[in-house]
Amino acid sequence: MNNNERIQYLHEMRAKSLLGGGEERIKRQHQKGKYTARERLELLLDKGSFRELDSFVTHRSHDFGMTDNRPLGDGVVTGYGTVDGRLVYVYSQDFTVFGGALSETYAEKIVKIMDMAMRNGAPIIGLNDSGGARIQEGVVSLGGYAEIFLRNTLASGVIPQLSIIMGPCAGGAVYSPAITDFICMVKNTSHMFVTGPEVVKTVTHEDVSMEELGGALTHGAKSGVSHFVAENEEEAIFMMQQLLSYLPQNNLEDPPTVPTTDDPMRQDPQLDEIVPDHPHKPYDMHEVIQRIVDDGQFLEVHENYAMNILVGFARLGERSVGIVAQQPSVLAGVLDIDASVKGGRFVRFCDAFNIPIITFEDVPGFLPGVTQEHGGIIRNGAKLLYAYCEATVPKITVITRKAYGGAYCVMNSKHIRGDLVLAWPTAEIAVMGPEGAVNVIYRRQLAEADDPTTLRSQLVAEYRQKFANPYVAASRGYIDDVIEPHTTRPRLINALEMLRNKRDTNPFKKHGNIPL
Ligand code: HXC
Repeated sequence: MNNNERIQYLHEMRAKSLLGGGEERIKRQHQKGKYTARERLELLLDKGSFRELDSFVTHRSHDFGMTDNRPLGDGVVTGYGTVDGRLVYVYSQDFTVFGGALSETYAEKIVKIMDMAMRNGAPIIGLNDSGGARIQEGVVSLGGYAEIFLRNTLASGVIPQLSIIMGPCAGGAVYSPAITDFICMVKNTSHMFVTGPEVVKTVTHEDVSMEELGGALTHGAKSGVSHFVAENEEEAIFMMQQLLSYLPQNNLEDPPTVPTTDDPMRQDPQLDEIVPDHPHKPYDMHEVIQRIVDDGQFLEVHENYAMNILVGFARLGERSVGIVAQQPSVLAGVLDIDASVKGGRFVRFCDAFNIPIITFEDVPGFLPGVTQEHGGIIRNGAKLLYAYCEATVPKITVITRKAYGGAYCVMNSKHIRGDLVLAWPTAEIAVMGPEGAVNVIYRRQLAEADDPTTLRSQLVAEYRQKFANPYVAASRGYIDDVIEPHTTRPRLINALEMLRNKRDTNPFKKHGNIPL
């Protein structure tokens, strides 16, 4: 072969590898409303930035007629490129090749990319569309998965790891995305489960569809496995691009700043009116957040799961912040098991990646009840507490209304290293709500009263006067300042600036023992 012929041969090989499992299977993929592995990468990455690696890799199996069936690339497209000019490592599972099922060499390709992402400090994004372990390879495939799980764990807290689920993701294969930081699922075309509907039927006799068992809505609203739910693949990719814009490349860097024309000194008079006069009346914390952050932009995580707490990313004065907030319009913003776990994991992510945490607090306490107690509200509520206590990033709280009981301590109080705790004049800080408190401390007087109803309302009013305000806490320095709500944006931006060089550490240890 002369040089020209060698280059020609290379081009032929390339063209072959681009076809994956062949035109017929690509057509089938499109008919299902799905893009191919390569088309997805084109959508995700900046135009022309993708550099593929290992496109000549083939599997090593000789069993079950595999000897003469060795597609180039072996079912996963791997490499690196940029999103908005920033380096990311990617792997995209190719369902057209053996259903995207994972072989030994396929796993090696992913492992190589993960190791490079770790060494070079850039996020890794996995696009998942796979029938799981490649049946023809047996235990070798299982070993490949385990190698990936190990790297997901070692990379956790070092580089951001994002998973987009765009097809099946079943069996033990779910545990790689599960260890990553964020999962985004696509409605109708993506499914995650440890065992599919057939096995479920055999074992538990439950009749359930794929979508109901492990579709995007199920995992986005019921199980909390999925952090984002997209209408289609384009939206899923767009969401992950947005998410990346709030994140640093790795745990040693700060997130990028994003310029805005939104004035850092902007005040919003509507905020003075937002908390209703009646303490039991709800309001929408989304509105509070949107009125304060840059350009009103809030990328909500777990939008449909444990909706009594809101978590997500925004910017203040052009810098990324993580927001944790009660939602008074859902279950009065109470902390229950799901909300605690959701909040705890988010706080830990922000802490690992140098993203300051802003807490908007309006919490009547932890949810009482047998279901919650037996479900482990003690163990699970402790996760949120632990996460806040352990976090060393700048932590600022704004108490908008209620801060009752244990929830007062948990939601980034001064006592657990909250850097700055601000309260609106509507704040109520007490061991418990007035009604509950009066029933406990005046039980005997109420039982003996001629008119317990009138007495109760008098006592509630007295209690409210004494405790349901921010000034007792402020007089002790537990609250740093009481502020007019309309000044919240400039106050927060100023506080973030003040905390810019914050340095805080935890005692040296192998790792803590968060109550899992
Ligand atoms: C090898 C596989 C495969 C697999 C699918 N294919 N799954 N090949 N190993 N695991 C092949 C099919 O033979 C077919 O090849 C092609 O991929 C497309 O599959 P279809 O069944 O035609 O597609 P579809 O109807 O869309 O169904 C997709 C599917 C189904 C739901 C994923 O294929 C399926 O149920 N596969 C088995 C899933 C499974 O049980 N995997 C093991 C899970 S346990 P041709 O040549 O016809 O195109 C596991 C353990 C991981 O993964 C443990 C980690 C610790």
